[in-house]
Amino acid sequence: MAKHVAIMGATGAVGTEFLRILEQRDFPMASLKLLASNRSAGRKLAFKGEQLAVEELTEKSFKGVELVLASAGGSLSRKFAPAATAAGAVVVDNTSAFRMTEGVPLVVPEVNPQDIATHNGLIANPNCSTIIMNVPAWPLHKAHPIKRLVVSTYQAVSGAGAKAMAELEQQARDWAAGRPVTKAVLPHQALFNVFSHNSAVAENGYNEEENKMSRETWKIFHCPDLRITATCVRVPVLRAHSEAINIEFHEPVSEAEVRRILARAPGVRIVDDRANSYFPMPLDASDQDDVLVGRIRQDPSISDGRGIDLFVSGDQIRKGAALNAVQIAEML
Ligand code: A2P
Repeated sequence: MAKHVAIMGATGAVGTEFLRILEQRDFPMASLKLLASNRSAGRKLAFKGEQLAVEELTEKSFKGVELVLASAGGSLSRKFAPAATAAGAVVVDNTSAFRMTEGVPLVVPEVNPQDIATHNGLIANPNCSTIIMNVPAWPLHKAHPIKRLVVSTYQAVSGAGAKAMAELEQQARDWAAGRPVTKAVLPHQALFNVFSHNSAVAENGYNEEENKMSRETWKIFHCPDLRITATCVRVPVLRAHSEAINIEFHEPVSEAEVRRILARAPGVRIVDDRANSYFPMPLDASDQDDVLVGRIRQDPSISDGRGIDLFVSGDQIRKGAALNAVQIAEML
């Protein structure tokens, strides 16, 4: 049934992608409200050939709204989600505000769609790196339980928002023009550089992004015994994340079996052309719904043929955020 929909953070990197995806998938809507800060109030965004005006987000914004797609940051979700659910809306929240809250389902539709049914007005969309790892890891885990995951990420600046993307583009322009390269949004220069993910480092020495990849996967897979260690790094890429994933299974699993499972896995596209050295790349993953998976090979350092290595790329803004949330909304 067509719903009255609101997008919280409509002018941001994920917010604008919500608009594209709702249009591309012809999501059934009775109305669409675009919400952002007062700085953007009155600004027009294109949707299905019309120009829709952005409104300032306030607690009164949710009257008559049935579905909220939220991506304006954790503190704003914490502040406004209660008003939205009190008004009768279901909130699909893209921030980390409620992901680990008991009773709030944390959903990757290819993995745990059944959890959506348990919601109390709030459904959390997982972290982007978590989603991109979970899409190929889950079908393998379901067929052959995984003992341990070792993941290293190569994360695009889009995860830090539209302003971080604009900063990387500006750094490239400044460098090409011989001007000094400056930074204001990300903590270090992104251009020609690689740095540890810009989230706070917790007491265990892992940054928040790394801890999210473990905690969220335990919740999504309903498998708290899974051993996971992550190293999360930003690279000078605009919008798709890549990950090197090393998988240790409990039992021997051949490379051929992994290929057979991944070839049929929803949301996965195998890109693994050894002859031409053509493997998943963020430029190819950008604007795509599927997570590209390649470099599929047996890890000889794990005994008895129980180890597999993968390299994956997935669009951080799309499957890592907006698309996953719209898929959840479609299942509601
Ligand atoms: P605005 O463009 O008006 O600042 P991103 O993740 O790309 O940085 O996007 C963040 C989104 O959250 C933007 O749409 C931004 O709107 C919105 N936002 C930021 N601060 C506020 C606020 N105080 N009230 C409402 N929306 C906000």
